[in-house]
Amino acid sequence: YLNYHVPRTRREILEILLKGLLRLEYRGYDSAGVGIDGGNGKEWEANARSIQLIKQSGKVKALDDELTKQQDMDMDVEFDVHLGIAHTRWATHGAPSPVNSHPQRSDKSNGHQGYHKGYEFESETDTETIAKLVKYMYDNRESEDLSFATLVERVTQQLVGACSSTERGGPLLIGVKSDHKLSTDHIPILYRSSGKDKKGCPTLPRMEQDTCHTLFAEEKKSVEYYFASDASAVIEHTNRVIFLEDDDVAAVTAGRLTIHRIKRTAGDHPARAIQTLQMELQQIMKGNYSSFMQKEIFEQPESVVNTMRGRVNFNDNTVTLGGLKDHIKEIQRCRRLILIACGTSYHAGVATRQVLEELTELPVMVELASDFLDRNTPVFRDDVCFFISQSGETADSLMALRYCKERGALTVGVTNTVGSSISRETDCGVHINAGPEIGVASTKAYTSQFVALIMFALLMCDDRISMQPRRREIIQGLRVLPDLIKEVLSLDDEIQRLAAELYQQKSVLIMGRGYHYATCLEGALKIKEITYMHSEGILAGELKHGPLALVDKLMPVIMIIMRDHTYTKCQNALQQVVARAGRPIVICDKDDYETAKSSSRTIKVPHCVDCLQGILSVIPLQLLSFHLAVLRGFDVDCPRNLAKSVTVE
Ligand code: F6R
Repeated sequence: YLNYHVPRTRREILEILLKGLLRLEYRGYDSAGVGIDGGNGKEWEANARSIQLIKQSGKVKALDDELTKQQDMDMDVEFDVHLGIAHTRWATHGAPSPVNSHPQRSDKSNGHQGYHKGYEFESETDTETIAKLVKYMYDNRESEDLSFATLVERVTQQLVGACSSTERGGPLLIGVKSDHKLSTDHIPILYRSSGKDKKGCPTLPRMEQDTCHTLFAEEKKSVEYYFASDASAVIEHTNRVIFLEDDDVAAVTAGRLTIHRIKRTAGDHPARAIQTLQMELQQIMKGNYSSFMQKEIFEQPESVVNTMRGRVNFNDNTVTLGGLKDHIKEIQRCRRLILIACGTSYHAGVATRQVLEELTELPVMVELASDFLDRNTPVFRDDVCFFISQSGETADSLMALRYCKERGALTVGVTNTVGSSISRETDCGVHINAGPEIGVASTKAYTSQFVALIMFALLMCDDRISMQPRRREIIQGLRVLPDLIKEVLSLDDEIQRLAAELYQQKSVLIMGRGYHYATCLEGALKIKEITYMHSEGILAGELKHGPLALVDKLMPVIMIIMRDHTYTKCQNALQQVVARAGRPIVICDKDDYETAKSSSRTIKVPHCVDCLQGILSVIPLQLLSFHLAVLRGFDVDCPRNLAKSVTVE
């Protein structure tokens, strides 16, 4: 919603929308669309006839090309009402096609083709029913001066399911841009009075309306608003943002912003703060890398430092986690820890389970959110449930969080996204501070989740005298970790050569045990999702119980063998593979000559304390999957059929 007082051309408006879409493309990218002013009229009702929708299947670039083709659109026409909406879609209902793309309209007309009454549905998407419901409720309004905000509020009251302002708590934020210093850093929430109109709908009392209209009275001439589902879409315009809560209704009328809620509930904040984001644009740009994934892999020496910054003191071997300090005593008294997550975030739980068990001396369960819910897993008041999620929006994890809260367990979030649903709804938590992760395949979030869970384990036993030598060993391991990660990253050329030998294969098996079982699962997931090769992470202890049958001289096998308490058993597995004519590629400690003798090839990584070694063993597999995908000619950042935030079950 651009400056109310400066005319803008259609071209300018479209450019802003398309740029915003490009930044959000990683969240879903099978189709995209924009809706902009088609020409005449200023009021939204009149404009409804002239809104122009341009939609295209494929990536945002396809939409951009389609816009260039629209010869009959005057790009230089100036508007003084600057509204536009744009949307990328990841299909859940209805195939990716222009008609199923968003935005959806309330009426079948688009101004160029005439105006039809009736509620004929043109798409197969569930979203279209909302647009039609808006129209229906507008057509049947009881009073002429029904505002659009009130209409939207009434419509949302009829809706059940996943949407920004009702049940699921999808995020929506408002970027606020002004050339002047804003006269306020918060927007007070307005509440409906208990008054009801003839149809039983709550009414907005006059006095509150007047109050809200004085907000931004000074700046209203210059304030611009950017509504977006992610800060990356607005950050190039402003770093001042307001995060909306569930059930907030925000409206901009003639340059003034209001936020209201229907009901006042105990514990509600009376205002929404205008926050200043620290994120910078170059942080979300690719820099010199060919893809976000590659950039994010190479960022890991810094991202793990950011996870530890201000939290781990290497001089006195202490750990502080501000987000847990009010709850740590309660957590120490709990009867078990349950780590709940999906995909890569689940693997971070698998990777740290052993050290959590060791340092907390508590039973630790690691659960896939969907399965945890399917099983109606018993959860008790004295359980502590962790929700690990890069995006903080994964629907299965969020559902599991609500399930555990209902059962009275203490909930802890481990997320990378400040203001995300999981970080807001958990009782306490740790932000992993890895910086925005844009490549769909998660890399730096995994290693930062890993470090965050280790820090938690260290905090849990900070007053246990018997644990101090082990704590010191791990904390000193964390100190050298960034340099060791750099050393592993320097293997990139070697791994690229390995990828060149493997990229035409159909399948890759990855075997390991103990601390490195998670690496096998995570490496196999990376390979599957971006190279579309079949890959399987196999627990080496299970080899004899089935998987060994897959091994022959042709099957590519990667094994992880590190000098820890499973070393001898891993040597055993190596011999079994070699005995079946397998030619294993082994990721091992750099001075492990014994292992090198039986391997057809080794990738040698530096040695680190056992429970952190999984961070060093996963990076070669991140690099390998990246190079395999490039060699196979695939778009590394946007794997087919996948989206970054999985906000549907
Ligand atoms: C794999 C990947 C996914 C996510 C999973 C959970 O590279 O990115 O498996 O890890 O969808 O997402 P978050 O962590 O956002 O809850």
